[in-house]
Amino acid sequence: MTTDNIRKNFPLLQQMDTIYLDNAATAQRPSCVLVAVQEFYEQKNANPLRGFYPLSLEATESYQEARKTVQEFIHAEEPEEIIFTRNTTESLNLVAYSYGLNFLKEGDEIAVTIMEHHSNLLPWQMVSRMTGAKLHYLECTSEGELTDEELQKGINERTRLVAVTQVSNVLGCVNPIQKITEMAHRVGAVVVVDGAQSVPHMPVDVQALDADFLAFSGHKLMGPMGIGCLYGKRELLEKMPPFLTGGEMIDSVYRDGAVFAPQKFEAGTVNAAGAVGLAAAIRYLQEKGFDYIQKKELELTQRAMEGLGALPYVHILGSKDPANHTGIVSFTIDGVHPHDVSEILSSDGIDVRAGHHCAQPLLEYLGVRSSTRASMMFYNTPEEIDALIESVSTIRRRMGYGE
Ligand code: ALA
Repeated sequence: MTTDNIRKNFPLLQQMDTIYLDNAATAQRPSCVLVAVQEFYEQKNANPLRGFYPLSLEATESYQEARKTVQEFIHAEEPEEIIFTRNTTESLNLVAYSYGLNFLKEGDEIAVTIMEHHSNLLPWQMVSRMTGAKLHYLECTSEGELTDEELQKGINERTRLVAVTQVSNVLGCVNPIQKITEMAHRVGAVVVVDGAQSVPHMPVDVQALDADFLAFSGHKLMGPMGIGCLYGKRELLEKMPPFLTGGEMIDSVYRDGAVFAPQKFEAGTVNAAGAVGLAAAIRYLQEKGFDYIQKKELELTQRAMEGLGALPYVHILGSKDPANHTGIVSFTIDGVHPHDVSEILSSDGIDVRAGHHCAQPLLEYLGVRSSTRASMMFYNTPEEIDALIESVSTIRRRMGYGE
């Protein structure tokens, strides 16, 4: 399987004249995903879950098949444990509003790591404000490690919920979710895992992790934008009230109340085409296989870290081990603001993200206000990484530093 052959599957990669290294924000889509979405609208478009006529039943079947694909992909026990949402942010807000506001109270603690994306932090700040539960930050080392000591200190008998990302969107480090769930369950806390940056890059098994909730997005996984998932253990979902109310999430409605249906978390007309596209992306990923994907992404990360790390004025954030970067290389350049770095890279035809990456507390904690982030996917090439290194090596000179 050559990278050239793989790139042929991606219409935009074939057309674009820039090097795309912002995959942690949004991945590109293979044509099978675009075809799956188009086929849904061309051949099955009707409102799913409602009609009893063949077209609606077909739409429903495709939607529920997509749920099964997600269930098998992350190894959930039952399809009912998969809820389709718009994205990771909505999934995490669902847990915060539905579980957090109803099952946490004053005197409880929420442990949240300092490296969370704002989407797994702001919902918990809100729950803390509304319930009086105290927010406790689990701090990491400069390499991104959550030490046993820090975890033991932060997960105690008052902890009711732990919010943790499986992979940091800035450092790329992989957090020990299994260890965290064990510690949290011992004190009766639930664990909410942000899987946005892990699910597209490594096998994730929610049962092996014993995660209570896990959220991820379609668009980082080569699926459509506007579709995301929340996994939740059945016994937790059953006792949680709906987050949004309205159409199709009820068994029956009376003048003074309603009885909710098991699919109580998917109010309104669902994004069935998005779900079908996501299932196609998952099948594509499975076809390539995580062995291949991880090997390729590690090679690219190693190359980037070696090349950038050899420049004395470049500082890579996080672990020194490329295997603990999940394709993410964030860096600073002495004397040059990351926004300037990204503009210069862009003028050389290289797309990266620069800024705080929606993880301001982490950057502040690490003592940097912002950074430049190159994020790789298995369809990137060594030549693209070399072009990044070459361009970065010219930046200080072009900014007038004479190097
Ligand atoms: N969460 C996405 C990122 O890290 C947008 O870039």
